[in-house]
Amino acid sequence: MKHGSAQLLLIVSLTIGAAVFLAAKTDTTQQRGARLYQNYCQRCHGTDGTGSVNITRNQIWTKEPIELAKIIAFGARGPSATGKEFHRAMPPAPYNDQEIALVTVYAMQTIGRRDVSITTEDVRNARRQHLDSVRRKIKRGR
Ligand code: HEC
Repeated sequence: MKHGSAQLLLIVSLTIGAAVFLAAKTDTTQQRGARLYQNYCQRCHGTDGTGSVNITRNQIWTKEPIELAKIIAFGARGPSATGKEFHRAMPPAPYNDQEIALVTVYAMQTIGRRDVSITTEDVRNARRQHLDSVRRKIKRGR
């Protein structure tokens, strides 16, 4: 084999190797959303929303995805969006804005059967507004 073609072969195999490695390493956003759901939400809501706190019939699935993101970010306690009171409260998720966006889309797709999109920036804005309203309440002394 000539020197030049050996070099070319090396470059080609390195490129293919790197591509295979990256494909195996980089999860799709859906896989990331699924993992975030499984690691946290699943213990209370099961794999598909039918867990000990069944949320499959909740009105939230017909609303804008930001409404779901807010529930995930700030937690929830009855009366719920369906008007039905649950006897336990949902704690705020220990997730950052990007993770909340990913898990919101995943839950909307798998439980709500809707394809929606929401960005990290949307969640960040919602969090900022929420904090502002809490601050205003504190200022008013309640
Ligand atoms: C520790 C248990 C727990 C975990 C973890 C949890 N939830 Fe909940 N969730 C609850 C409970 C309890 C309620 C009912 C609270 C209420 O609305 O009164 C609830 C309510 C909800 C509702 C309906 C809210 C409403 O107001 O109707 C949705 C949607 C939801 N959870 C989604 C999620 C998603 C998505 C995750 C993961 C990011 C998650 N939950 C993690 C316990 C949990």
